[in-house]
Amino acid sequence: MPTAARDIPERNGSAGLDRAVSNSFDPSNSLSQSPTATFHSPNQQFHAPQRASTRELKPFHTQDVKVLLLENVNQTGQTILKKEGYQVESLKSSLPEDQLIEKIKDVQVIGIRSKTQLTANVLKHAKNLIVIGCFCIGTNQVDLKYAANNGICVFNSPFSNSRSVAELMIGEIIALARQFAERSMELHNGVWNKVSNGCWEVRGKTLGIVGYGHVGSQLSVLAESMGMNVIYYDVVNLMGMNTSKQVPSLEELLKQADFVTLHVPELEETKNMISTAQLEQMRNGAYLLNASRGSVVDIPALIKSMQSGKIAGAALDVYPNEPGGNGPGFNNDLNTWTEDLRNLKNLILTPHIGGSTEEAQSAIGVEVAEALVNYVNFGTTLQAVNMPEVNLRSLTLDEPNHVRVVYIHKNVPGVLRRVNEILGNHNVDKQMTDSRGEVAYLMADISNVNSSEIKNLYQSLEDLGSRIRTRVLY
Ligand SMILES: NC(=O)c1ccc[n+]([C@@H]2O[C@H](COP(=O)([O-])OP(=O)(O)OC[C@H]3O[C@@H](n4cnc5c(N)ncnc54)[C@H](O)[C@@H]3O)[C@@H](O)[C@H]2O)c1
Repeated sequence: MPTAARDIPERNGSAGLDRAVSNSFDPSNSLSQSPTATFHSPNQQFHAPQRASTRELKPFHTQDVKVLLLENVNQTGQTILKKEGYQVESLKSSLPEDQLIEKIKDVQVIGIRSKTQLTANVLKHAKNLIVIGCFCIGTNQVDLKYAANNGICVFNSPFSNSRSVAELMIGEIIALARQFAERSMELHNGVWNKVSNGCWEVRGKTLGIVGYGHVGSQLSVLAESMGMNVIYYDVVNLMGMNTSKQVPSLEELLKQADFVTLHVPELEETKNMISTAQLEQMRNGAYLLNASRGSVVDIPALIKSMQSGKIAGAALDVYPNEPGGNGPGFNNDLNTWTEDLRNLKNLILTPHIGGSTEEAQSAIGVEVAEALVNYVNFGTTLQAVNMPEVNLRSLTLDEPNHVRVVYIHKNVPGVLRRVNEILGNHNVDKQMTDSRGEVAYLMADISNVNSSEIKNLYQSLEDLGSRIRTRVLY
């Protein structure tokens, strides 16, 4: 029997709902954020040189730093690069290979996202290129080894979207517990189905987090604040946030958890980490959520577990094969079991959107652009994907005649002796060197250098057989 919808009764002359909503937003409370407010303003990150008394360095023999940004890099990143005085050209899309080759010849810096392929064939034309910024998480679109062997440093932004993923998980945990997606789909189809059977509050339930890294630990805090008990399993011993507890094995976690969320990297050991045996170890009526990588869950095994009712619901954001672009294409041609998956009840399917928020894109823009600036201006390789991580305390305004030498070289015996013979005519104030595979990175600050000496210094280093790339910043 249909019942009429009723308004919430008014209290003290104002609607109760209005009151509740307006009270929850307090403009004076700095924690309240308008969703459209700029969330991540360009900031000094932990690894950025302290700029106050820092001397701004410039690459020797380069008039202007030319930057090419492709694929609509976020405005936050563009702003930081322009503020440095670099010549920035920003294009909305990626470029076909022939056009990319033409453009890349001219620039010192390129910023891309996931679609631009920087293969060895493209990079061999990039004679001036010193650094690549991937304004995204993945870097498999870049030939990292070729880049390193040719003195081109690569940066990305692996963790800027951790919070976005964690928040999606929270939404999905509640949605699964309340069969929310199912009810919504039914009502979209005109079916009223008011049920409470099999619907739960999440308060007091146990969340089992597999992989307690950037995403897992954020999620842990959020889940506890909703009254959930949190346990986690990780191959590394890690201190838990708040009252969360590490368990010694995956099996232990699966036995105890009402909700299991997966946040491990894609590795040989994590392939099909959740398969038939693990699903059997889970509690009857438990829920599984995967926003890590598609290979981590054996999806045909999950389909069987859901069909049998063992698993009460699941949320998947990632798949072994994913369509190349938006539009139709999530079908059996992609993965043979797709239709079976789509027919399951209480299953939330999302198109790899865990990290896709305005805030995450903005944070990626800031993180990568700052890494590029720190590399171009200061030679810092912290967080680099394909080079050893090297950093030196910044030169200050009190050190006007100091010069910073960056020497990327083949990792072979005897190089440091030869380099220090060249640098030895000056006082080497500080020096750091490290290697990664075949490539080594040396950074040294030397004092009392006349500008007339810089060219000779540069040329002497360039003439060494071990040289991959020399940069002198002054
Ligand atoms: N869906 C999305 O849009 C999205 C967005 C960001 C990240 N991700 C994915 O989420 C996953 C987690 O990201 P993160 O930033 O938290 O990574 P992270 O590197 O910070 O954390 C991963 C954790 O997993 C642990 N781990 C590794 N192997 C393990 C194993 N065999 N068993 C248990 N624990 C193991 C590590 O010790 C680490 O603590 C990654 O696969 C990442 O690619 C997806």
